[in-house]
Amino acid sequence: MRNGKDGRKPKRWLITSALPYVNNRPHLGHLVGCILPGDIFTRYLKLKGENAIYICGTDEHGTQSEIAARNAGVSVDEWCKKMHDEHEKDYSWFEIEFTRFGRTSSKTNHEMTQHIFLGLYENGYITEKETEQLYCEHDKMFLPDRYVVGKCPYCGAETHAGQCENCGKLLEPTDLIDPKCVLCGNTPVVKKTKHLYLDLPKFKDKLETWISGNKHWKPNVRNWALSLIPDLKPRPITRDLKWGVKVPLPGFEDKVFYVWFDAPIGYISITKEWAEENGENWEDWWKSEDTRLIHFIGKDNIPFHTIIFPSTLMGTEEGFILPYDVPAMEFLNYEGKKFSKSKGVGVFLKDVREMPYPPDYWRIALVNMMPETGDTDFTWAEFAKSINDLADAYGNLVNRVLVLSRKYFDSTVPKPGEFNDRDNELLKLIETVPDQVARELDSFKFREALKKALSLARDANAYLNAEEPWKKENEVRRATVIYLTLNAVKSVSILLKPFIPKIAEDALLRLGVENPSWEDAKKVDLKPSTKLGSPVILIKKLSDNEVKKWEQKFSGRNVEGVKMVGQIKYDEFAKLDIRVAKVLKAEEVEGSRKLIRLELDVGELGKRQILAGLKRWYKPEDLEGKLIIILANLEPKKMMGMESQGMLLAAEKEDDVVLLAPEKPIEPGAKVH
Ligand code: 2FM
Ligand code: ZN
Repeated sequence: MRNGKDGRKPKRWLITSALPYVNNRPHLGHLVGCILPGDIFTRYLKLKGENAIYICGTDEHGTQSEIAARNAGVSVDEWCKKMHDEHEKDYSWFEIEFTRFGRTSSKTNHEMTQHIFLGLYENGYITEKETEQLYCEHDKMFLPDRYVVGKCPYCGAETHAGQCENCGKLLEPTDLIDPKCVLCGNTPVVKKTKHLYLDLPKFKDKLETWISGNKHWKPNVRNWALSLIPDLKPRPITRDLKWGVKVPLPGFEDKVFYVWFDAPIGYISITKEWAEENGENWEDWWKSEDTRLIHFIGKDNIPFHTIIFPSTLMGTEEGFILPYDVPAMEFLNYEGKKFSKSKGVGVFLKDVREMPYPPDYWRIALVNMMPETGDTDFTWAEFAKSINDLADAYGNLVNRVLVLSRKYFDSTVPKPGEFNDRDNELLKLIETVPDQVARELDSFKFREALKKALSLARDANAYLNAEEPWKKENEVRRATVIYLTLNAVKSVSILLKPFIPKIAEDALLRLGVENPSWEDAKKVDLKPSTKLGSPVILIKKLSDNEVKKWEQKFSGRNVEGVKMVGQIKYDEFAKLDIRVAKVLKAEEVEGSRKLIRLELDVGELGKRQILAGLKRWYKPEDLEGKLIIILANLEPKKMMGMESQGMLLAAEKEDDVVLLAPEKPIEPGAKVH
């Protein structure tokens, strides 16, 4: 474990992962980039007996949240809370153990942000500048990029400002041809507005000294950070928005801080909330040289964590510590493409939770694909290989040694005899591999650490194969060989605990080991006669067919950009008898909160009734006389004592439901294909 610059060991470890935007439903790329490494690293520190906390939360302010909430028809606060809870569920399913998972919209963060800003202001690090921006006189607000739509001057496409959705050119709102406000559709006017800027050039020298001294940083992180210093300019930290932290200065009452100003301050606020609930002093964690702060982030966040946030902290002159390291990851792509929710590329944690694999399978596969030194690709083939390799190297070993212990020693730890050379070789590995794994983890080389840990399992397997303790002629060696193999399994399981906590824990419990420490991995100390658990298949291998199925389900694209979820053949579609029907009568179903009963004329198929859960969206009287679309050959179903003879087709998005209807009137009974 590295010591601090003065050679002292840190007393506290403060681990953070970039706070995910609340609007982005997390995908594997987010998980692998900073959340999973933060979790593995904190678990490792804790196993080593270090005093470590792991801080994360949702990044909630900004235009995107306002727009998403408006589209969903709920308040921003309500929207963010709902999304925050979803994030939390996703991460806890993955066994991510945050010490606290907070929110940047909390009162603590508003207060902390204002306090930090005032410190910067009083110390002379804030400047003011007037700019011209588009203003909507109808909505009485300055329009951020995403609130202005118009024609791109380069390609003519309809787009919002910021970046053209078609050609990708960067666009100021004033660049757009015929700009309109997205809220009301009116043409905005150009108006002057003042903003506050963080005076970054004032920090140049301090940043340069600090960053160049951080020789232990990954070269790409350090070089990128250093390359930004010569061109530093004052950076705007306020926005004309409502959803955010209010600016505590007269003349700025209508403004809030830019989301990137208050988001990293969230790390401090979330620590403070945790500290207050746990009888700790947050300042010990943020203002003591004995704390080691590590920011796990994706590479796109490097400027914020090496330049802007450190400047913010320095400028307060309150003695905040700066990060000891910023181990940025590169990007994980999905089968060669960028993850994209709108294009349906990639696997989202929500999908993962519905698949038949436990979280540890994903964790191990993601470590193998971790983009530590360059972008990597998630592929299903690699996913399967990771799990199958783990099953071969480790799962199989656990099972074999437990089977042998049951067969020959009634499921107890046997008493070993004298060790020979081969035993001593394995013993030596048990004593030395844990330090090698630790060295890799200390320098954030997760893939290498995992490889080293599994090499011990492979060596133990080879030892068992060479010794053949099941053979009659090896009877005298049997107890020693099984004893040492059991100890090797214990050791590997401890080393794997940060990576696959549940599986490793299961194995350790079968060996009668509870709450081991990292140091225990180096010991050959299982007590003879200890009762062992039963053999088990801890990891089930994946078949090629299974892999193909997922490949198809998640990347079933014939044409670039065309998403096909769960492709079917035409024959399958042809089995559906979809028809136009006319609503003859519609009435509420007594005693049901949702159902409406519809009497339908389906032309050549005659009359029938369908019950549909439409009450929230339609009044029965508005449905009468309408032409709608139904699935006519769906097996009838009983609801509230009545039979529903088919299903009507409706479109659903977020909380809205609309019935499908023919574009022009057509006879009831007409077929839809
Ligand atoms: O890039 C992102 O996803 C940001 N939400 C990260 C914020 S990190 C921090 F500083 F809060
Ligand atoms: Zn364009």
